[in-house]
Amino acid sequence: MEEERIVSPQMEGHAEEKLENSLRPQTLDEYIGQDKVKQNMKIYIEAAKKRGEPLDHVLLYGPPGLGKTTLSNIISNEMHSNIKITSGPAIEKPGDLASILTNLSEFDVLFIDEIHRLSKSVEEILYPALEDYTLDIIIGKGPSARSIRLDLPKFTLIGATTKAGALTTPLRDRFGIVHRLELYSVEDLTTIIKRSSDILKVNIEEAAAVEIARRSRGTPRIANRLLKRVRDYAIVLENGDINLKIAKHALNKLEIDELGLDDIDRKLLETMIVQYGGRAVGIEALAVGVGEEIDTIEDVYEPYLIQIGFMSRTLRGRKALPPAYKHLGYPLPEENGFSGQVSI
Ligand SMILES: Nc1ncnc2c1ncn2[C@@H]1O[C@H](COP(=O)(O)OP(=O)(O)OP(=O)(O)O)[C@@H](O)[C@H]1O
Ligand SMILES: [Mg+2]
Repeated sequence: MEEERIVSPQMEGHAEEKLENSLRPQTLDEYIGQDKVKQNMKIYIEAAKKRGEPLDHVLLYGPPGLGKTTLSNIISNEMHSNIKITSGPAIEKPGDLASILTNLSEFDVLFIDEIHRLSKSVEEILYPALEDYTLDIIIGKGPSARSIRLDLPKFTLIGATTKAGALTTPLRDRFGIVHRLELYSVEDLTTIIKRSSDILKVNIEEAAAVEIARRSRGTPRIANRLLKRVRDYAIVLENGDINLKIAKHALNKLEIDELGLDDIDRKLLETMIVQYGGRAVGIEALAVGVGEEIDTIEDVYEPYLIQIGFMSRTLRGRKALPPAYKHLGYPLPEENGFSGQVSI
């Protein structure tokens, strides 16, 4: 069963995809935040253009909804190249990848989403393609089998993943440019919300934009989704303009608290605090405790809770930290060395 979770950073079907496409920035200058990544990419893109060569292969990683797909499209726009889009799970056999590669044109960008999900045999085809733009194919079977080498057009691979740790070392090593996208600041999210409001032709008060930003878990996808839901409330309850009062009212109705936490986050923290009394908890036990997949906890919930200092991940397991106790109204367990004011 698919659970509807408004603060889930994962995409939620066709309607959201349409919204996202309309809100997607097209150039690096329109892409808000991620300044380090942007500055570096600008240089690499300009250098590649001056040399008349394709851009080095790029790996983008980080939690869902932070703009990996958006940035990949922007890179291909800025390079004036065409982009071909596929994903790890969609490339089932080595032959599938061989046909994608042989159909590329010079300077094309090949975007492989969820690149950590490529199979071993497909990955092996990719290595020489990335390194020397060649494709080795085996024709025939047994003693009469022979290998032929084809030249490929010079292209740029952009790989995106939420799980950089799941990438094999040989694949990772073949990317010349590797960037981790970070959760966005409230300031950057406010800018994104104001930009999206402009595109959607909604009037929004500065304070309301900040309020939505604060509850967006550092994630532009969530910011845009909350904006849309708040707009619905503004249309039904008032004249369609979004002020602070209507934003707060809508967000409270959606049961998202001041920090963007919902009941699943609270359940996660409460499992650590109440069931385990503040001791380190293994990820498996946490997953059972909240009834979610281990992967979902690691990719979706944890990054934000760690970012805001609500939990930590150590070798011995996960622990809720004092700000989480405070936020949820639990006393700190003294025996764990929490004395009320703890340096984390
Ligand atoms: N830097 C940004 N500036 C403005 N809007 C952004 C930015 N990054 C992302 N967005 C918005 O957030 C939405 C989600 O971004 P995107 O689809 O690129 O995320 P993603 O990292 O590819 O997610 P996933 O891991 O689920 O594939 C986009 O529609 C885009 O409008
Ligand atoms: Mg994406």
